[in-house]
Amino acid sequence: MNSAKVRIISNPVVRLNLCTMRDAKTDSQGVRIAARKITRCLLYEASNNLPLVDKKITTPVATFTTKTVDPDINLIISPILRAGLIFTDEAIDILPQACIRHIGMYRDEKTLKPVWYYNKVPMEAPNPEKFYIYITDPMLATGNSLLEAIKLYADKGIPIENIKVICIIAAPEGIENIQKHYPDIEIITAAVDDHLNEKGYIVPGMGDAGDRIFNT
Ligand code: URA
Repeated sequence: MNSAKVRIISNPVVRLNLCTMRDAKTDSQGVRIAARKITRCLLYEASNNLPLVDKKITTPVATFTTKTVDPDINLIISPILRAGLIFTDEAIDILPQACIRHIGMYRDEKTLKPVWYYNKVPMEAPNPEKFYIYITDPMLATGNSLLEAIKLYADKGIPIENIKVICIIAAPEGIENIQKHYPDIEIITAAVDDHLNEKGYIVPGMGDAGDRIFNT
């Protein structure tokens, strides 16, 4: 694993909520609340790569020029359905210029390979260097679904440094799988766990994130 490209965000607020989210005794509402607080912290960190432009502001006291996020970039949040949705409310809250482009893939329980069922990724990316993509999935397990999603954007010529994977819990096997194909992509996560078990679950993980978030 190339640790230089894995940013682990482990401040006390993230740690506190990660414990709540992982705990088998936490109910679905508790999991959602804790997960959202974590996603907010991760998204703040991810936003570090957004280009800034000058902006003139008049406060009640004075007029001055400062920096703000370039309004002309195409900022895309791509949640992988369904668990990746946990990022979307926070993402459009803190980055109002973002659009949400859903990616629907489920994991075939036998092969652990992703199966597509929905794709709202834009067909064209004119000025690809102006595109900034955050692909979200709380669990980076095998990494197979994330790889498919990264490929969709990278194949449109969007620079790999403009594409980020944001997850909450990652398995070393999944990180290695992604880095084998995209060594320069940045992965932002709250934790890197021990391993994947034979069913493809992250250990210790949190169980099935979609089931725990959506109470199924
Ligand atoms: N997906 C989940 O929801 N949990 C895991 O542990 C692995 C994949």
